[in-house]
Amino acid sequence: MFSCDDAPHQGNILHRNMRREYPVITHGRGIYLYDEDGNEYIDGCSGAMVTNIGHGVQEVAEAMYRQASAVSFTHSSRFTSRPMIDLAERIAALTPGDLNHVFFVSGGSEATESTVKLARSFFLETEGPDTPRSKVISRLHSYHGGTLGAVALTGHIPRRRKYESMLVQFPLIAPAYCYRCTLGLTYPDCGLACAQELERTLQEVGPENVAAFIAEPISGAAAGAVPPPDDYFAEIRRICDEYGILFIADEVMTGFGRTGEQFAMDHWDVAPDIIACAKGMGAGYAPLGAVALSDRIAAAVEEGSGSFTHGFTYSGNPLACSVGLEVLNFIDKHDLVRNSREMGEFLFGKLASLEDNPIVGDVRGKGLFAGVELVRDRATGECFPPSIGAAEVVTQQCMARGLVVYPGSGMVGDRSGTEGDQFIVGPPLTVDRNDISEIVDRLEAALGAAAQKLL
Ligand SMILES: Cc1ncc(COP(=O)(O)O)c(C=O)c1O
Repeated sequence: MFSCDDAPHQGNILHRNMRREYPVITHGRGIYLYDEDGNEYIDGCSGAMVTNIGHGVQEVAEAMYRQASAVSFTHSSRFTSRPMIDLAERIAALTPGDLNHVFFVSGGSEATESTVKLARSFFLETEGPDTPRSKVISRLHSYHGGTLGAVALTGHIPRRRKYESMLVQFPLIAPAYCYRCTLGLTYPDCGLACAQELERTLQEVGPENVAAFIAEPISGAAAGAVPPPDDYFAEIRRICDEYGILFIADEVMTGFGRTGEQFAMDHWDVAPDIIACAKGMGAGYAPLGAVALSDRIAAAVEEGSGSFTHGFTYSGNPLACSVGLEVLNFIDKHDLVRNSREMGEFLFGKLASLEDNPIVGDVRGKGLFAGVELVRDRATGECFPPSIGAAEVVTQQCMARGLVVYPGSGMVGDRSGTEGDQFIVGPPLTVDRNDISEIVDRLEAALGAAAQKLL
């Protein structure tokens, strides 16, 4: 029988993968991480698009110390705090449209769960207690979090499979994934058929039963940084408005500068009704997330029952909010949204060289959020057999060269979710040209070695 004692470093932890050996990280500085054995890694994916301001930022450590020394915890059912008030004001100023109200949480799954409860609450307030609106439409090959409600929204089949029988069944529509259109069409001749699926689904299930549509502006973990066609979200907005449902943008991965704009929806000047955010707003220094909502939704709650029946013990935690404020200060002070845009252009220029590698099928993304799709045959787009674990092979080759990337698989096809390999490169937004050149050099070498193993 396998025993945890047989595996170094396993100890008492139930790791995500009990067969893998995990390096023990001792510290981080800037874009670098260091382990107990003296190895150095470039954090080429910011953990999971989290550590956007880099590691070891002293201003944040000092802000944490100050807040923890003053008061670390107050419960949001009785008190508010200056960091919570100030952070809400900052977020309201950064979000698009009239998303002037903020509900705090501790991470992305709590954020997306909160958005759908908020959407239903909006209709309870405006249509009354008998409103049938309880469905939320989402997309295939999406990721909205690991709690059961968030998995029910998630369209990435490998993350659903084991829990399918426990999930509330919501409609899933085609993603905007032009490299491998799920509908077998080509943009722009398709007439945005993937967006039209939302309209068709609303007609099928009855718009009166639907509270919201949720989508990642740029599909992240489940698909590998896939942006939609430029006119996609304007069409989604039109359909949501025409059928009277709310549009939720899940900006957990893309928010706060990752894609070269403050929020990814800013690329297309489309304002959602609700935004979910987390990751980069705490930048890994504290578990922190938020839901930003429009004036209309806040007014419905305020003028209706007066309460949003929802919350978590750590909602609006003063310590986490003080970190969030300091992270936003750092982003501002170092002009990191602009840096993400400019260094993103430099990164994509460099990544063009990967096109010489026979296992690179597609390179896509925006800002410092780049996805690379792996193929067995570039001409036909044929995938590697899932048993080979191509994304994992590439990741291991990167790790061996001191580069951390973020792999994923199972995003090809309709409902089988077995094929397809990709990985994301998303370094801290503090990178300069030298950092990017070093990242791409290591990546090229890793992909070269992986191609030899895989083909
Ligand atoms: C778009 C998106 N939504 C939600 C989540 C869940 O966030 P968390 O892991 O912080 O709960 C993630 C995490 O990767 C994500 O990328």
